[in-house]
Amino acid sequence: MKFFVDTADVDEIRDLAATGLVDGVTTNPSLVAKEGRDFFEVLQQICAFVKGPVSAEVTALETDKMIAEGRRLAQIADNIVVKVPMTFDGLKACKTLTGEGTMVNVTLCFSANQALLAAKASATFVSPFVGRLDDIGQDGMELIGEIRMIFDQYDTFDTKILVASIRGPNQVKDAAMLGADVATIPPKVLRSLINHPLTDKGLKLFLDDWQKTGQSILK
Ligand code: E4P
Repeated sequence: MKFFVDTADVDEIRDLAATGLVDGVTTNPSLVAKEGRDFFEVLQQICAFVKGPVSAEVTALETDKMIAEGRRLAQIADNIVVKVPMTFDGLKACKTLTGEGTMVNVTLCFSANQALLAAKASATFVSPFVGRLDDIGQDGMELIGEIRMIFDQYDTFDTKILVASIRGPNQVKDAAMLGADVATIPPKVLRSLINHPLTDKGLKLFLDDWQKTGQSILK
């Protein structure tokens, strides 16, 4: 499973990318607004060091305007993925943009039928939002299982399942167990995957014992 980082914070992405764990990035209008920076400048900076897919969302609602915005965003770098909403107009824009060779991420997916539509519109990625489904008392991971099952029935579907709206580490594990192609993970959650109290305890024990030897590795 690939790891994308779900943020528009360039410094945070750069720091996480140094681990080699970052296969791509997703942004959305809310994440861009949070940074209070120029959208194009942020995307240019990210694409300068992240070579995997970087999602940038259109804000128009009509197909023609979405396509125009998508074309403009796609000019930023070869690895830009144009994000369009799961609407009738969005699906039409998806079909056109993918036909032009642009990667497209159909976002705000909340049902298996919506994911099926994205695949039939030749989306590169479809983004089911698991956290927001959990927020309203539905089971986000159940949806991932359903979409995986559907996509696996048809060789003609190339659309990747991009698990979005992740709130915690267990959702990353569950997405991997269900065979999702990508999880887009908020930086805080990605960092939390590293932690385990027994790792901290074990490390302290090793270092305490090493201290007793009076040795140092670097002279
Ligand atoms: C996905 O591409 C979205 O940016 C994101 O995962 C939304 O997550 P949220 O529900 O935490 O806002």
